[in-house]
Amino acid sequence: MLSGKRVLLIIGGGIAAFKSLDLIRRLREQGATVVPVLTKAAEEFVTPLSTSALAAEKVYRDLFDLTDEAEMGHIELSRAADLVVVAPATADLLGKMANGLANDLASTLLMATDKRVLVAPAMNVRMWEHPANQRNVATLRGDGVLFIGPDEGEMACGEFGPGRMSEVPEIVGAVIAALADGPLRGKHVVVTSGPTHEPIDPVRYIANRSSGAQGTAIARALSALGAEVTFVTGPADIAPPAGVRVVRVQTARQMLEAVQGALPADAAVFAAAVADWHVANESGRKMKKTREGLPVLEFAENPDILATVSQMGQGRPGLVVGFAAETDDVIAHATAKRDRKGCDWIVANDVSPATGIMGGSENAVTVISGDGAEDWPRMSKDQVAARLAAKIAEALT
Ligand code: CTP
Repeated sequence: MLSGKRVLLIIGGGIAAFKSLDLIRRLREQGATVVPVLTKAAEEFVTPLSTSALAAEKVYRDLFDLTDEAEMGHIELSRAADLVVVAPATADLLGKMANGLANDLASTLLMATDKRVLVAPAMNVRMWEHPANQRNVATLRGDGVLFIGPDEGEMACGEFGPGRMSEVPEIVGAVIAALADGPLRGKHVVVTSGPTHEPIDPVRYIANRSSGAQGTAIARALSALGAEVTFVTGPADIAPPAGVRVVRVQTARQMLEAVQGALPADAAVFAAAVADWHVANESGRKMKKTREGLPVLEFAENPDILATVSQMGQGRPGLVVGFAAETDDVIAHATAKRDRKGCDWIVANDVSPATGIMGGSENAVTVISGDGAEDWPRMSKDQVAARLAAKIAEALT
């Protein structure tokens, strides 16, 4: 199941570390190469020698081991893997990951990796339930980190509750699922997301309230199905998902350039809330109050990225998906928008204030294609993303 796959296994310092030795054996039985990394605390529970012997690989332990830097730097070590697994993931490791600390080899690898990360937490039940740990877990889930467990049960410390590391076969199953070849494997999808900022002068800009939530969820869902995703994002509130190629832009014009630079692609999803205009008389200096009166801003139209890509002829992605936020006559307006811009599908939603969709966590959309309009029930933005990703996979395969 895992032949040819390379797993970087970070072993944290917890009593459950003894199970990680068995995990190495079971992953190798499945054909994986396991490269172990021990934190300092882990060495109190398992020895480098037994870890290395079971993995039949060198065990990595110290960030400042110069021989290793000569052989393989920490950046390369973190990226040569297909998946990074942290087992046991202690409260300390989760805290470091959630807060971006990188003060030893394990935490530095976790910051440097561009691969998906699967964690198997193990800690005392009170520590697991502590608000600080729960905050970290929520942050990590939002970053796209995969979790297996913890399980509930009797713990080494004598207490009972959630906190036990999952059993080895379950962790192996989660590794297999994380590395499974999804239906979008080998497909490249460009996703735009977030607002754009259109400068007035060096310190002021025009923006909109898009959080980037729906676009981020779509990028994550496509990546989960195996797609290679280029995520072109304006300055959004929420962090981009892990495991995608992120291109950050400010303006609509930069977003168009970034999208064109990312092509060719099999599909493109335009979820960004792009400003329709930019300030034509943008000032190179900070505008000052003067006695002569109020400043007058002149506007010029921004390029329509969705329309440009939909109508590009040669090199056009096979499937182009746009969004339409409407407050009335949703289907009629969205259908007209699809025809005008030339995209294949329009995901339309009613954003009138009564729906509570704008800025909320749920969405109710209608997907308009050449086959007509398909109403989806109200669901979370993550569920809309998963369903849209599945529909894209169906169309591309
Ligand atoms: N879009 C784009 N480039 C623009 C403007 C919009 O790529 N300069 C894309 C958006 O990402 C979205 C769709 O086009 O996929 C929305 O089209 P738009 O005409 O902006 O729709 P609304 O925002 O609903 O505005 P309006 O109803 O005023 O046309």
